[in-house]
Amino acid sequence: MTIEFEAWLSALPKAELHLHIDGSLQAHRLLSLAKKNAIELPYSSVEEVEAAYEFEDLQSFLDLYYLGASVLIDESDFYHLMMDYLLKCKEQNIVHCEIMVEPQTYAPNGVEFSTMMAGFDRAIKQAESEWGQSTLLILSFLRHLSEDEALVTLQQAEPFRENFVAIGLASAEQGNPPKKFEQLYAMARAQGYRATVHAGEEGPAQYIWDSLNDLKVERIDHGVRCVEDADLVTRLANEQIPLTVCPLSNIKLCVFDTMQQHNVLELLEQGVLTTINSDDPAYFGGYLNENFLALHHDLGMTQSQALKLIRNSFEASFLPLGKKQEYASALQSQSAGIKL
Ligand code: ADE
Ligand code: ZN
Repeated sequence: MTIEFEAWLSALPKAELHLHIDGSLQAHRLLSLAKKNAIELPYSSVEEVEAAYEFEDLQSFLDLYYLGASVLIDESDFYHLMMDYLLKCKEQNIVHCEIMVEPQTYAPNGVEFSTMMAGFDRAIKQAESEWGQSTLLILSFLRHLSEDEALVTLQQAEPFRENFVAIGLASAEQGNPPKKFEQLYAMARAQGYRATVHAGEEGPAQYIWDSLNDLKVERIDHGVRCVEDADLVTRLANEQIPLTVCPLSNIKLCVFDTMQQHNVLELLEQGVLTTINSDDPAYFGGYLNENFLALHHDLGMTQSQALKLIRNSFEASFLPLGKKQEYASALQSQSAGIKL
């Protein structure tokens, strides 16, 4: 059954909505860029890099993640990073993706906004023309930095306004509550950006409430700690506020001890608009398909549940309604016979 499930899943058109581009930096690319840019790393082989993928919490991961991103310097580095992920999309039949880009990560290394965007844009346009890849970018801010620093980055993004569909907020959640970025979200909304935010990954359910009420976001990245507040789960379900859930990430970062304890299928059954995503696939042991396979294997996720989760991803995307409907009917015609 597992092999059949894998073949069936691989063939379906899918969307991914929660992916940090720096989290898709594979060990071989990290090493080759470090060599090219003469950046010293404490690793000299793919095996050594991959041996470091043991995390006890979000912060222990972020330390390695920011070290990894320090090898990205020129336009071609950003092109290759983006192209490596878009080729994975092609391989896994992820026909639409929404990718978080974090300019504040590169700024301390002297990387200009325009250098980063030129590389990303070249890869995105190439993937679109070669195999019809659909990609949207999310301008994601680092919450361990100040709101003033985020506002400077928002201003630097102005010449590239058309390249981004939304803003997001990532990095260390504990101690950096949504309220810290209220002004940023208000300003971005006034400029027409849509909005998402990491909340309820390591932080409490209250951060999800505050994200909805104070930041007025349309969707929540992770959000799995919503189950600690029944009223919140009711609100998420009633208002169909999407959660971009990342199962393998949650296990690697010890949000749940084991996949058997993961709550995504319970949330799905309670009517929450849950979606499946990979977050930082190079570091967490799997891309989108592997996340679905883990749920099938460890939680007994059915084809019907998988189909609903995939349909939810198109529904929860920042695409215009017409595009969402096109993808939904393509999915429908390829999955005929599976009851929802
Ligand atoms: N940045 C990259 N991955 C992240 C995660 N899982 N949570 C918060 N910030 C991140
Ligand atoms: Zn994330």
